[in-house]
Amino acid sequence: MIIKPMIRNNICMNAHPGGCELNVKQQIDYVRRNSPVPAPQRVLVIGASAGYGLSSRIAAAFGAGARTIGVSFETPAKGSRTASAGWYLDQAFRKEASAAGLEHKSIIGDAFSHQIKEETVQEIRSMMGQVDLVVYSLASGIRIDPDTGEMYRSTLKPIGRDYRALSLDSRTGEVAEATVPAATEEEIAQTVKVMGGEDWELWIRALQEGGVLAPGAVTVAYSYIGPKLTFPLYRDGTIGRAKDHLEETARRLDTALRDSGGRAWVSVNKALVTRASSVIPAVPLYLALLYRIMKEKGIHEGTIEQCVRLFSEKLFAGEEPPVDSLGRIRIDDWEMRQDVQDEVERDWEKITAETLPRLGDVEGIKEDFLRIHGFGFPGIDYSADVDIQARTDDNG
Ligand code: NAI
Repeated sequence: MIIKPMIRNNICMNAHPGGCELNVKQQIDYVRRNSPVPAPQRVLVIGASAGYGLSSRIAAAFGAGARTIGVSFETPAKGSRTASAGWYLDQAFRKEASAAGLEHKSIIGDAFSHQIKEETVQEIRSMMGQVDLVVYSLASGIRIDPDTGEMYRSTLKPIGRDYRALSLDSRTGEVAEATVPAATEEEIAQTVKVMGGEDWELWIRALQEGGVLAPGAVTVAYSYIGPKLTFPLYRDGTIGRAKDHLEETARRLDTALRDSGGRAWVSVNKALVTRASSVIPAVPLYLALLYRIMKEKGIHEGTIEQCVRLFSEKLFAGEEPPVDSLGRIRIDDWEMRQDVQDEVERDWEKITAETLPRLGDVEGIKEDFLRIHGFGFPGIDYSADVDIQARTDDNG
């Protein structure tokens, strides 16, 4: 089958297996060039098939030789429909890890469910006994409560009043104005339920009760703050409330884990084009400015550069990682640098459809958006016939 990107409302509906494989290989190459990366040897990544979770897994496996278990929710190819990008990315990880002699297991299913937690506990027990690092990197629009069966939806809305913002279509590069209506109390509560810390805490409890969380284990979840100009929609909006909850959960987990020498952290990461961030109004536009400015200054990073820096300079550098006044690790430090943000603010005021190609790295955004789905790699012949039923091996 010949696969071209199918994009609707900033969501890419298909993926290219060869491009996804190249995406993973390029991340592995980066890690190898920067090896060794300090990390524990037995690692669980929840949300391991894409974005920050995939890069965390690659950094631990290929940088530190860690054995890894990755949990994700992805769909295989069916009929003429390709698999989801994360499915191919996970396949590629498994192929490369096997080739490198790295032990690994992928579990595909709903991480919010009791069943997947139990399956993971059993897998840890039989494969590695216990885990020393748990990375929590889920991004999801829905969560089914494992006890009540009730479905919750996360929304990206401002709180208190409507928000009118310029937005960028990641595919066409066009600028449009969008009004996002203020969230209801119910929508706020549902977003916290999906993207807050409740499930992270349930995971840690399940691992402890199963006896598979090693004494001294470290857990980290990812958060975002961003610039003032996206505050109304992001940090002061519904998702910000969920991130507040995630960060409170980190403080609570940290107190509990310290008794056995363990730690729980939140790392505030840099804004990047991932499947999750592409659908947030105003954010792709901010990203276009940010990418240009950070590239010009030589400080632009992708998820893999972020994760390698997080492990080697913050989490496992041998000393207590530096944190902000709320106890968070800040790997968004370069994004939030005063000179970077001053330029973003200055240029934000000037954005129109005409000025954007000059002010923003629209091509860079489009390229990243395509590449997370395996498209837009110069090394791949996209006119070639492809087997969309990616290989499944016997090792999860
Ligand atoms: P992503 O969309 O690239 O990856 C999400 C992962 O979660 C995938 O592996 C997916 O399979 C998995 N997942 C989703 N629902 C699941 C379920 N029910 N069961 C099992 N797995 C499931 O997301 P991204 O952007 O890497 O986000 C990860 C975390 O990093 C989120 O907490 C996000 O808020 C945070 N973050 C993201 C930033 C960005 O700019 N993208 C910036 C800072 C933090």
